[in-house]
Amino acid sequence: MTEHVNPLRDPQDRRLPRIAGPSVLVIFGVTGDLSRKKLMPAVYDLANRGLLPPGFGLVGFARRDWADQDFAKEVHDSVKEHARTPFREEVWQQLLEGIRFVPGEFSDDQAFETLKETIQELDEQRGTGGNHAFYLSIPPSFFDDVVGQLRRHGMADEKGQGWRRVVIEKPFGHDLRSARELNDIVSTVFPPESVFRIDHYLGKETVQNLLAFRFANQMFEPIWNNNYVSHVQITMAEDIGIGGRAGYYDGIGAARDVIQNHLMQLMALTAMEEPTSFEAAQLRTEKQKVLGAARPPVDIDAHTARGQYSTGWQGGEKVKGFLEEDGIKPDSFTETYAAIRVDIDNRRWAGVPFYLRSAKRMPRRVTEIALNFKRAPHLPFTSTDTEELGINALVMRIQPDEGITMRFGAKVPSTQMEIREVSMDFNYGGSFTESSPEAYERLILDVLLGEPPLFPQHEEVELSWQILDPILNRWAELGGPVDQYESGTWGPQSGIDMLARDGFVWRRP
Ligand code: BG6
Repeated sequence: MTEHVNPLRDPQDRRLPRIAGPSVLVIFGVTGDLSRKKLMPAVYDLANRGLLPPGFGLVGFARRDWADQDFAKEVHDSVKEHARTPFREEVWQQLLEGIRFVPGEFSDDQAFETLKETIQELDEQRGTGGNHAFYLSIPPSFFDDVVGQLRRHGMADEKGQGWRRVVIEKPFGHDLRSARELNDIVSTVFPPESVFRIDHYLGKETVQNLLAFRFANQMFEPIWNNNYVSHVQITMAEDIGIGGRAGYYDGIGAARDVIQNHLMQLMALTAMEEPTSFEAAQLRTEKQKVLGAARPPVDIDAHTARGQYSTGWQGGEKVKGFLEEDGIKPDSFTETYAAIRVDIDNRRWAGVPFYLRSAKRMPRRVTEIALNFKRAPHLPFTSTDTEELGINALVMRIQPDEGITMRFGAKVPSTQMEIREVSMDFNYGGSFTESSPEAYERLILDVLLGEPPLFPQHEEVELSWQILDPILNRWAELGGPVDQYESGTWGPQSGIDMLARDGFVWRRP
């Protein structure tokens, strides 16, 4: 499993994996779901792949009466349950030596003093080089406390000895105003180049492939514009409900939870111009340009839709409706289905609507970006010949069945002329033997390496809120009740209608 890394590698050669330098990763909120299911397993997977240095320390900070061994057991259990790569005792033992835990509240000065001493000890004992990353896997309402404590206890400034980085998880605010406030809090303590905002979709292999697909090939770019594309559909469907996340989800909803970040980023990568390089600054400039040209629909009521799942059947099981979920207010207006139209006012995309939709409790889990093409200007066939010809589409399947599909018409074998829609597929599984790393592996490694391209900057966050805010304000004005859709279906009638108004239908992925 260990990847062999040549220390004499050419730094320009990006085929070879880079190993993180000596460092300490401090995670705030280690008792949360994200930490247990994603962060700790990703740290182990990196260690298992040989991408963490011997001088590495992992510090957990949380409100639990735990000693180092108790935390280590938590990490061990989460790795056993959720890691992608097989468990190897020797890798675990090495990681274990650098695991520490600091109990405390975010308001507790003494706990932050202990944290500081713990990190200093790790620097000395493990040779972690004074390089420290602070991962805030906590609700944004605590950012102020934590970054304030890091500053007061002298853990935020570099003082010429190693680097300091802070990693923040979405939601980056609730709207434009609160996003700015959050940014002010973080930026008074950490300079912009030390702030790593995680949008885990950008760490997904298939999302990075979007760049390779668009810019390493000659044949797609000429048709990637309003001469050929009629509209774009970006879908992120989940089959799960809100599970135990009522406290987070109620009042947030699908648009804030995933459209503002994941789907807007997918849209930006799909629509942006070619960057001059894949350096962070160039990539961000292109994403910002396209997000800056994007706007909400003129008629928000006609071109957005929202819904809540009602009781229904899923996976052979009867499931509760959103309003009956534990912890959800019975009169909640929070949407579990959101669909919006976005228009991009630039030469490439004018007149091509982008439809972004996401929902919980859909028939299956699937994320895809579909470019739907215009009809050929003339069809030299009779209308019956082409009755079963759909519209040409290029579909980038982000997950779970990763790959790319092209849909087009082909002649049905027979002596007559009949054209039917067929598809041509590229599947990761069929083309590569390598398995894809988890998004968090890639992103945590990039934080430790100080590689910023996959982390959105505050400007992108602001621009995304600028698109969404008018829609959210209108929905708030309308209040409820919100349209219902049966669990296990593709959403409310209003979602179907909003596309029908433009003469389109949603794809059934
Ligand atoms: C998170 C959202 O960002 O993404 C969740 O907060 C959602 O609501 C999750 O379930 C989906 O992630 P993935 O990688 O499974 O598509």
